[in-house]
Amino acid sequence: MRVLVTAGPTREYLDDVRYLSNASSGKMGYAVAAALAAAGHECVLVSGPVGLAPPPGCEFVPVETTAQMRAASEEAFAGCDGVIAAAAVCDYRPAVRVEGKIKKDGAPVSVELIQTDDVLAALGKRKAEGRQTPRWVIGFALEAANPRENALQKLRAKQCDRVVLNGPASIGGDRTAAELIGPSGEVVMHWEGSKPAVAGDLVDWIDAWVAAGRP
Ligand code: CTP
Ligand code: CA
Repeated sequence: MRVLVTAGPTREYLDDVRYLSNASSGKMGYAVAAALAAAGHECVLVSGPVGLAPPPGCEFVPVETTAQMRAASEEAFAGCDGVIAAAAVCDYRPAVRVEGKIKKDGAPVSVELIQTDDVLAALGKRKAEGRQTPRWVIGFALEAANPRENALQKLRAKQCDRVVLNGPASIGGDRTAAELIGPSGEVVMHWEGSKPAVAGDLVDWIDAWVAAGRP
């Protein structure tokens, strides 16, 4: 298979030197990309800025902003069999990006923030409309409260086949605990371990699921 993976944070600039972003190491997305390559799949890794080397054997598309991540993902998407959206996309951007550098002057500042595009929802919509080839879409959900309920809502709103649910404890570390949530809210799998181990289990699950006709 050829699989698109989104990973890492995105950045939304206030001026040329200041930005809003998410706490994200990119470790999980990069582990998924490495696991795909190790399992013999082609992988396109669209990634925000992280301090990691792209796994060997992946096509690497570095991006910075959410708009860039969306454009790169939509471009790669058409040629892919599936998508795994592990990116921690910045949900808001300053309404205005100022050119140059804003000078500080001691006075409080308010910044109007507006929501960024939802990359995964855009991909899920395209898949659902059958306009392009990808046959499956797997999202991630990071939840602090009512995790399964919220993950199911995201699965539906973004037209995903499955969602990998994890919690704030996963951010930045080398280990994670995750549940795979199905379209009726059922817990399909539970994994706990190093991010490479969980990523390997996720790819094994996808391989078996695709081989079985994606029940
Ligand atoms: N996602 C995305 N584009 C965004 C926001 C999120 O593609 N602008 C994707 C993430 O990559 C992940 C999924 O949507 O696969 C869920 O992200 P998450 O941050 O958990 O949920 P949100 O929908 O952003 O809602 P909230 O942060 O308010 O919980
Ligand atoms: Ca979010």
